[in-house]
Amino acid sequence: MGTTATIQIGDKTIDCPVIVGTENEVGIDIQVLRDKTGAVTFDPGYGNTGACESAVTFLDGEQGILRYRGYPIEQLAGPASFLEVSWLLLKGELPNAAELAAFDAAEKAHRELPDYAVAVIKALPKNVHPMAALASVLVALTTSEDSPKAVEAGLAKNELTLLAQLPTLAAYIYRHSQGLDFVGPDAGLSYAANYLNMMFKGTKLATTDEAIAKALDLLFILHADHEQNCSTSTVRLVGSAQAGLSASLAAGVTALWGPLHGGANQAVIEMLDEVVAHQNGDVGWAVAQAKDKNSNFRLMGFGHRVYKNFDPRAKLIKVQADLVLGKLGKDDKQLALAKGLEQAALQDEYFIQRKLYPNVDFYSGIIYRALGFPPEMFTVLFAIGRLPGWMSHWNEHNAGKARIGRPRQIYTGKNARDFVAVDKR
Ligand code: ACO
Repeated sequence: MGTTATIQIGDKTIDCPVIVGTENEVGIDIQVLRDKTGAVTFDPGYGNTGACESAVTFLDGEQGILRYRGYPIEQLAGPASFLEVSWLLLKGELPNAAELAAFDAAEKAHRELPDYAVAVIKALPKNVHPMAALASVLVALTTSEDSPKAVEAGLAKNELTLLAQLPTLAAYIYRHSQGLDFVGPDAGLSYAANYLNMMFKGTKLATTDEAIAKALDLLFILHADHEQNCSTSTVRLVGSAQAGLSASLAAGVTALWGPLHGGANQAVIEMLDEVVAHQNGDVGWAVAQAKDKNSNFRLMGFGHRVYKNFDPRAKLIKVQADLVLGKLGKDDKQLALAKGLEQAALQDEYFIQRKLYPNVDFYSGIIYRALGFPPEMFTVLFAIGRLPGWMSHWNEHNAGKARIGRPRQIYTGKNARDFVAVDKR
């Protein structure tokens, strides 16, 4: 392959540099295109646009490959802990034993929320969506942001504190919505076990089962990063205006909330409920509805912008769904329905042609529901997992001193016309 790509527009010809990534991904650098030809590129939904160079995560959707900092997701999910993976994403290398121990201790020491954040949660209506509450309090946390230069236990103190506090924030938001007293963090418990304890202590959903905590930790790992998805791109874009870390993360939370993105895990459960309510679990009806362009029904948890073979996270989560439900002794009718729906869709020409496969959200909601999380909390769990990825990208973007994000457009509105005042008499 040459080192330039030649673009001809009318009588103008320009040579654009070709850049190649470490996995041989090829990009045409069109930064001079507009200056030299007056034209811009047109790519709605950014399906074919490389907005940045990044060394965080490699994803090959055709082959179903996902690697954090070079490590395959299949090797991390299980043997590694979420904190280890967070360090890996943020720092670029795995921590050694001493680094991990110091990080673990510091995380445990920073789990308490500042008083004003607790007051903000209490001031919110009980029925506010947890993702709205999460975004609101995250923006407020900008107030207590440490100087970006402060370091503790080898990490930026801001990042360490946010990692430690997000589960507390999520648990308090949940307990507030339920009218329950808050349960403070317990430094004797692991990251996921402490979160479960703060969520459910004193209720019939309380669990001290380490295997369940381990499964949740693994789910956090599977969600920890996914390169330039909608919410991560949002975090980078907001950060490019030099907005603070928490403010950029809050924007990521609201992007994640949408049902076409992280909100799909809630939407999957609602869809399965709908299939049961209207058709008594008839998966054929659901597949037909999903194919019908006149219906608004989509197979939630299916399809992905970049995975066109399989989503490696979905494979791992499916295994966890069986494990967790087995462990809880639950015969979840929804799990059986989801498996039936997956089978029916995967054999259907419509889904085969369009390369639509289950994505990360298809089975995660079933696990969360079995653990007792209400559907509105599912995307909050996604956000806890995604936090290290968002922060890694925010850092990378800022460290590179990227220009402010500012796309162009093709204007399709009215041409210039003269204002005529209405007769106001
Ligand atoms: N059910 C039925 N048809 C679908 C689905 C689906 N879930 N997903 C895509 N299609 C169809 C589209 O209608 C379109 O058909 P057409 O070519 O006949 O017009 C074709 O497949 C291509 O779909 P697009 O919407 O153009 O694909 P895009 O890459 O823009 O969207 C997305 C990807 C948003 C994930 C989409 O597949 C979808 O809506 N899935 C359901 C929601 C979901 O699960 N989101 C979570 C994604 S993972 C994550 O963000 C964490």
